[in-house]
Amino acid sequence: MARRELTFVCQNCGALYGRWQGKCDACGEWNTIAEEAAATARPPQPGRAPRKGRKFALEPLTGETHDAPRLACGITEFDRVTGGGLVRGSVLLLGGDPGIGKSTLLLEVAAKLARARHRAVYISGEEAVAQVRLRAERLKLADAQIELAAETSVEDIVATLSDRDTPRLVVIDSIQTMWTDAVESAPGTVTQVRGAAAALIRFAKRSGAALILVGHVTKDGQIAGPRVVEHMVDAVLSFEGEGSHQFRILRAVKNRFGPTDEIGVFEMTGLGLKEIANPSALFLSERDLGSPGTAVFAGIEGTRPILVEMQALVAPTSLGTPRRAVVGWDPSRLAMVLAVLEAHCGIRLSGHDVYLNVAGGLRIQEPAADLAAAAALVSSLANAPLPADAVYFGEVSLSGAVRPVAQAAARLKEAAKLGFARAVIPQGAANESGGEGLALNGVQSLAELAAEIAAHGTPSPRADRRAREP
Ligand code: TYD
Ligand code: MG
Repeated sequence: MARRELTFVCQNCGALYGRWQGKCDACGEWNTIAEEAAATARPPQPGRAPRKGRKFALEPLTGETHDAPRLACGITEFDRVTGGGLVRGSVLLLGGDPGIGKSTLLLEVAAKLARARHRAVYISGEEAVAQVRLRAERLKLADAQIELAAETSVEDIVATLSDRDTPRLVVIDSIQTMWTDAVESAPGTVTQVRGAAAALIRFAKRSGAALILVGHVTKDGQIAGPRVVEHMVDAVLSFEGEGSHQFRILRAVKNRFGPTDEIGVFEMTGLGLKEIANPSALFLSERDLGSPGTAVFAGIEGTRPILVEMQALVAPTSLGTPRRAVVGWDPSRLAMVLAVLEAHCGIRLSGHDVYLNVAGGLRIQEPAADLAAAAALVSSLANAPLPADAVYFGEVSLSGAVRPVAQAAARLKEAAKLGFARAVIPQGAANESGGEGLALNGVQSLAELAAEIAAHGTPSPRADRRAREP
């Protein structure tokens, strides 16, 4: 008896099964397993020789490359994140929470291209044409020659777009609303989203149009629908922002044609998204000068230095297990810094609640923020305001040593540009040039810095009383 073929395939992760089941053991998704015909060799047809492979020419690595494939749209923050503009035939997935401004951003991108006399098509599966027009009017883009449609059938869209000269940009808002005849499941299902994306991507590759797909994000931040769509596209961008802030940050999660650590900063205004060319000035615009618990961190996002305020609040706890809450930074790094403060600096925090916040809704991923976070924490605990004209950066190791970090010169230069007078940095970076007119204060260990901050402190009466309790 011939061995049974595995013919049930998870449409989300591609795992193979011998029989149908409701949940995929490999990726944990429900209802994604579908029967697929096993790929078997076709029986040779009588009277016809089997097809021989066609020969093709192999090319050397050096050779002529045809036409400049990138097209910058003119929105600097967007172009930076895409790696210099939209590549011909490339597909980009833009994810983000509902209402964050994806449609607004893409309408502005399409309008910029249309105004530069490129053919730009905007297909909305979520909103009626009238709604998109209203938004365009509000954004003062109504005069741009964008071609608009409210359609959801992929076959109709591809047929329409193949009809005339190829568009330079096609925006599909959103991929979850699209459906294709080639797949039987209902619109919005994993299989449909994957099928629709595959058909649209095939069109983009064949025609050379740049394609941007909008993708909704589920509660846990994943782009809803099959994760395979993320693998099918050339770049995945995510558009983020804190609900209460007007700042929006565009971040590349994956990019075949550019860096993935660049960010673009926008502000949502009544007239659409405004580019923020100098994010440091914005993030520092509402500083609470002279109050304890804030430190300015000189960070790097991609190639760009960004100064941002880290705010800490350390308060005696009334709970058995003290609270640790952090917004905009990695909670496990906070736990590490707290442990180092306890173990190597003699600072007891087990009786205190600790809150840490990165101002402006920015999310910091660098370990270089350790020193700034530690300074803010000690400053809050000791009730000692840090000097308002100082910036901090450096990585703290588990032994309590302060380690140098990359791109110190760029960080110092940005701090000097924004009028800061001194920088508290790792000892190893103290002979770094870059910050003209900036006094460099090298520190070797976190204990040294903590002692110095605490020495300036005026313990708040309440904290003092608690500290003396047994
Ligand atoms: P939208 O682009 O529709 O979000 P998404 O496509 O990601 O769901 O933007 C929706 C929000 O943006 C909405 O709450 C209103 C706000 N907004 C402004 O504040 N100013 C504007 O000029 C526009 C067009 C929208
Ligand atoms: Mg939208």
